[in-house]
This record gives sequence, C-alpha cells and structure tokens, in this order.
Amino acid sequence: METVLESNKEYTLEGERLKIFTYPSPILKKKAKNVEVFDEDLQVLIKNMLYTMYLSPGIGLAAPQIGLSKRIFVIDTQYKRNKKLNAQGKEEIEYSNFNPMVFINPVLETSGDIINWEEGCLSVPGVYEEVKRKEFVKVHYQDIHGNPQVIEAKELLSICIQHENDHLDGIIFIEKLSLIKRNLVTKKFLKKKKS
Ligand code: CO
Repeated sequence: METVLESNKEYTLEGERLKIFTYPSPILKKKAKNVEVFDEDLQVLIKNMLYTMYLSPGIGLAAPQIGLSKRIFVIDTQYKRNKKLNAQGKEEIEYSNFNPMVFINPVLETSGDIINWEEGCLSVPGVYEEVKRKEFVKVHYQDIHGNPQVIEAKELLSICIQHENDHLDGIIFIEKLSLIKRNLVTKKFLKKKKS
C-alpha cells in the first residue's frame, strides 16, 4: 500500500495542532465540498491535519472535524505510540512506524458482508460503540498533488475509510446506531460535555 506523502517518505511529526470540533457542532452536519486547488496551502493543511490526528491521538481525521467543509481526510492505522520516561523522569510519547494516508475527493464503493466494528471519533470523545459497516471498500481519490489514485481496503482500514468518508457527508458514527441506542449515547455524551 502506498504512502501518500510521496515527497516526504520519512514522515516527520511536525505542524500546528488544530482545534477539533465536537458533536453537535453545525460544521459536522454539513456536506463538504470538493477540493479543486492543489496548492501549497493544501500541503500545509494536510501536514497540520496529520499532526493533529497523531497528537490527539486518533487513526483518522476529516476536514469538517477541524472546521473546514472540504472533502479531505487523513488516516494512519499503523503507527505506534509508546509512553516512555525520559532522562529527567518525565513522561514522553514516542511515535514510530508512521504510515500517513491522505484522501482527497474520495468516492467509495463498498462490498462484502455487513460487519459490526467498535468505533470511536475525535469529535465524540469517550464514546465507543459498535457500528454496522460493509466489509470491503474500494476508493477512487486524489492524492496531495491532485493525481488520481485507487486503493482497496479491508478490516480496520476499510472501517476507518468509511467512518471518515461519512464525515464528508455530515454523518457522525453515533447517528448510525439504533434510535434507542443513539438517544442514550447522545444524552450521556452531552451531559458529560457540559459538566
Ligand atoms: Co470521526
């Protein structure tokens, strides 16, 4: 599987940490617009989205989650994160095995069986629930340079792509739960958020 930052094969964890919008921010409900300009601003944005995802930490982040209604998401289902004590006895987090993936203007074709997978979301912190998804996904998308790409995914990467793509259509994973479950989870989350 390709790593998407071709110009930067050895990924370096750097950038600006962006604010993550949490449920029920209106930006999360909007249908995002296609990216048409592949310029330096886009490169900076993606660098900052990856940085924000790694530090949060999460395995995926979509542009609406940082307040930008554009069809972009970043994913890394492979990196490792270890807590260590440094020489001064302070806790440090060591990251390794980066595999950043960037999807711009993705179009999904899902297939296979319906499977249940436990999901979480940086926009609904602390909530983990099983969601029904399709087993496989094929994605047509553009990379950071605007070049067309295709990948096929299964298991965690497939679930993650489907979850992130939903963000581009204004759908949060808890909205895919049964009505009873959804009301329960939403109430609990909003109560905790207030306190
Ligand atoms: Co999410």
